[in-house]
Formats: sequence, C-alpha cells, structure tokens
Amino acid sequence: MTVPRPIVSVVVPTYNERENIDELLSRINESLSGVDYEVVVVDDNSPDGTAERVMELSSKYPVKLVRRAGKLGLSSAILDGVKLCSGDYVVVMDADLQHPPEVIKELLRNAGRCDIVIASRYVRGGGTAGFPLIRRVISLGATYMARILVPQARRVKDPLSGFFLARRELIEGAEVAVPSGYKILLEIISQHDNLKICEVPYVFQSRIRGESKLGKKEILSYVRQLLMIMPDYYKFAVVGASGVFVNLGVVWLLAYMLSIPHFIASIIGIEASLINNFVWNDLWTFRKRRFGKRWWRFLKYHVSTVVGTLAQYTVSQLAYYLLLKESLLSQALGIIVGFIANYLISKKYVWKKP
Ligand code: GDD
Ligand code: MN
Repeated sequence: MTVPRPIVSVVVPTYNERENIDELLSRINESLSGVDYEVVVVDDNSPDGTAERVMELSSKYPVKLVRRAGKLGLSSAILDGVKLCSGDYVVVMDADLQHPPEVIKELLRNAGRCDIVIASRYVRGGGTAGFPLIRRVISLGATYMARILVPQARRVKDPLSGFFLARRELIEGAEVAVPSGYKILLEIISQHDNLKICEVPYVFQSRIRGESKLGKKEILSYVRQLLMIMPDYYKFAVVGASGVFVNLGVVWLLAYMLSIPHFIASIIGIEASLINNFVWNDLWTFRKRRFGKRWWRFLKYHVSTVVGTLAQYTVSQLAYYLLLKESLLSQALGIIVGFIANYLISKKYVWKKP
C-alpha cells in the first residue's frame, strides 16, 4: 500500500504562540477543506507550552511537530520544517494570524503556473492593517534596500513577505546565508534568475494575541543577509572604492604627517590598497571561491593588477615631481589612470574580439 502524499504542506514556525495555535489550525483546516494537506509546526521549545498544545490538537488536525532545543531563528526553523514535508508544494506562514489562513487557497490556486506564489502586501488589494507609521517606513525602506542590492528582487513587489508558497525542492535546496534571519524568501529569490514568481494580494493583520519577536537582532541579521547575498560585482565595486580610501589615507599619513618622500609614500599607499582589496575580496566577495592556499591567491592577485599598478605609480610620480608637488592630488591622478589602464587592458587584451 502506498501512503497518500498530501498536495500541500504548511510550515509554521512558532515561538510562544500557544494562544494562537487553536484558531490557526482550525482556520487552515477550513481554508483547505477538500484538499490533501498537512501542517508542520516547528517550535523552538517555547516556554508557553506551544508544542504541548500542538500535540493535543494532533488528534484533530493533520499536524506534525518539530521540536528544537531553543530559539534558533526563523529561516532555520523553516528549513528544518521542510525536511518533514511531503507535499509537492510548501506554504510558509506565521502562526500569529497576521497571515490570514484563508489566503492559502489563493496561493494554491496559482501554484500550477508559478514557481513561487507570494502573499503580497504591496500589490493592488494588499496592505497592512494597523501597521504603525514607523513599521511601515521600516518595511518600505527594507524592501527598497532589497531592490537595490538584490537584482532578482526587482521584479517582485514584496520580496520580504514571510507568507508564500513554493515548490518543495526550491525551499529544500536553498543555501541560506543567514539561517538565524527572517527573510528566507529573499534568499531563495536571490539564488535563481529565471523563476516564475506570482503575487496575490493580502492584508497583513495586526497581532491580536502574543508578541512580535522582530527586534534589533533580526534587523541586524537582515543587513547581514543583504551584505552576503548581493551579487559579487557589487561587492567588488565596493571593495575597490574602499581601496581608494585606503590608498589616499596612507599617502596622506605618510607624506603629510610623517614627511616621507612621495616616491616611497606612493608605493606604500598602492600596496596598502592592494592588501585591503585582496583581504576583503577574499573574505567577502569571493568567499565561496577560496580554493587552495591564500598566499598563492595573494600572489596571483598582484600579478593580475601589475600593469595597472605600474601605470598608477608612474603617473603619480610624474605628476608629483614634474608638476604638482602635491602628494594626495598626484596619487589621486595615478589612481584614475591606473583604473583606466586596468579597464583598457581588460577590454583590449583579456576580453578582446578575436
Ligand atoms: N521556531 C521559531 N524560531 N519561530 C519563530 C522564531 C524562532 O526563532 N522567531 C519568530 N518565530 C515565529 C513566530 O512565533 C511567528 O509565528 C512567526 O515566526 C513570525 O514572527 P513575528 O515575530 O510575529 O514576526 P513579524 O510579525 O514581526 O514579521 C512577520 O511578518 C512579516 C510580514 O509578512 C515575518 O513573517 C516577516 O518575515 C514578514 O516579513
Ligand atoms: Mn507576527
């Protein structure tokens, strides 16, 4: 005999949601009447006894429980929950009824034609009921940050929604950069370029019972998440810009504060920026491509920039000794010419037309 597989699994992370769990399960059950479904509650050892209440209700509703030792964060709870899911589709939602269970039907209706269906606050018909102005502003600001830093999020109105449906493999296969964070949907979106994403409107309700767990820690982990998942070319550009500051800062210190001659200050400034750029690119931009020995990459990095570096140094020296007698300005000129040299070499030599 084959065990029947539910069509949809609903993953609900909980931390101190005992007061909400009865109504949640009953409304999900109503919303999905006639559909084969299961609910997977992932509870992080809530002190209020959420897990015990879920166990009691498991004779009444098709609900499984995952119990974790302590509060380990929302995204990781969802990942742990999905491991127990057997439905083709997984719905992720909060337990506190701010995500109305009735919307699940709408998500499911669109499941066949989309990879991900987002319950969206920011499409026509959606909204936030009783969001105080400050949370509205933070939410919109955070959404814009995502749009700027995560290109795949640009075609989505509500990439930070915590309420969505996805094919099970999409969540299972997600490599989550910040498991303690809140925004697993954004992680999934950022990892695929060709997803068909649909949005259905819903109104985010105000919380009647229990308390929000969104605090400073979650906001910080959101910033960390953005810094991790933004594309590597953005990171590379940011690192390059920081290198300019390091370069000029060192020259300023050596030439102006310590009166070291420009031909020495300049080369030390250049080397400091190379070290700076290498370290950040190694730790951040290309952290997933660190194969082999670090010193060997360090050496290769120097080789790859040698022409631009020589151009930079030469121009800085000529500008200083023949023209300006101004260390910072000469170095800045050198940096600009070095940048152009690197660009031209890349274009005309490395990436030249055959
Ligand atoms: N297991 C577990 N572990 N559950 C958690 C944890 C945790 O560390 N932290 C929070 N939860 C559960 C809560 O019990 C609730 O069911 C759900 O995750 C959301 O937590 P809230 O604290 O109510 O979040 P919120 O209302 O401020 O924000 C939610 O709504 C936003 C708008 O849709 C989240 O879902 C956001 O991701 C979402 O953007
Ligand atoms: Mn909530």
